[in-house]
Amino acid sequence: MNRKPIHYYVLLSLLIVAIGFSFYYYQQVQTYEHRIDDEIAPDSSLPTYHFVLIGEEMNHDYWRLVGEGAKQTEERYDVFVEYKGPSRSNPEEQLKLLDMAIKSKVDGMIVQALNESFTPLINQAVNEGIPVMTIDTDSPESLRAAYIGTDNYVAGQLAGEALIEDTNGQATVGIITGSFDNTHHQLRVQGFKDTIEKVDGIDIVAVEESNITRVEAEEKAYTMLSEHDEITAMIGTSSWDGIGIVAAAQTLQKQESLYVMTFDPLEENIQLLETGELDAIVEQQPLEMGYRSIEMMLDLIQGDVVDEIYHTNASIIRRSNIDSWKREKGESL
Ligand code: BGC
Repeated sequence: MNRKPIHYYVLLSLLIVAIGFSFYYYQQVQTYEHRIDDEIAPDSSLPTYHFVLIGEEMNHDYWRLVGEGAKQTEERYDVFVEYKGPSRSNPEEQLKLLDMAIKSKVDGMIVQALNESFTPLINQAVNEGIPVMTIDTDSPESLRAAYIGTDNYVAGQLAGEALIEDTNGQATVGIITGSFDNTHHQLRVQGFKDTIEKVDGIDIVAVEESNITRVEAEEKAYTMLSEHDEITAMIGTSSWDGIGIVAAAQTLQKQESLYVMTFDPLEENIQLLETGELDAIVEQQPLEMGYRSIEMMLDLIQGDVVDEIYHTNASIIRRSNIDSWKREKGESL
């Protein structure tokens, strides 16, 4: 029997199997490479710009509105806004978030610059090519490109003018300020002092800080009102301060006679205004700050002219205009 053809068939079969395997593995490699390519290719559905906005207190209506305004821009522009901050005021944590944003090389940063300890990181970001804007509290000595927010000195002046008007220029005043270290509170107090100084009948007898907590606002107000029986008016420069002052006045049964003014129309502040325990509230524009900050950042990145300072409006709410204020809010919601 001739065995040659059998060898031939075996070899041929092996060759076919080998070709089959080669083809199979070639296909597998191709599929895998495609998968890898897909994974590393930029996702064209991602927004072009990634901005970070870092605020003071996420668990606060004022900052909720800043965030809401900023996030609304995502519907209109090609941006992703990462909105971050500590839940309660914590400057150390804010600085850490700033540092992380620099490390992750975001396209732009919008930062509340509470005090001079924020300057080195703002400057580092700018030196590394990340555009920076400040919001709510400015750091004019830093390399930030622009500021959006209340003119905090003017807001203090406004509070002073309202006090003069409401007390007919006759008052002995105690001040509770959010923090002695934070620029915006310093400016609010300064603006207030400079305004009332011009009036003979008004004197400031004590200034204390609440450390941005309602508990400390109440403690400090309680001590102040106990030690200075002559105080007839109190002003708080942060949004919790009015609530603390009112609580202390209630304990000391002074709420009837004491004039109280505070910042920001938190729901609780509005209720206290309606019951007459608060007399005036300084209102700021957090929603606008958030929204416009992103538009300004886009303008900066695209090389358009941007005003270095964009001051949003500050105004006074009193019981006498609370109804029209509520109507306007309802309309703008
Ligand atoms: C201030 C913010 C602050 C907020 C909550 C506002 O009056 O402008 O800087 O974070 O109150 O304390």
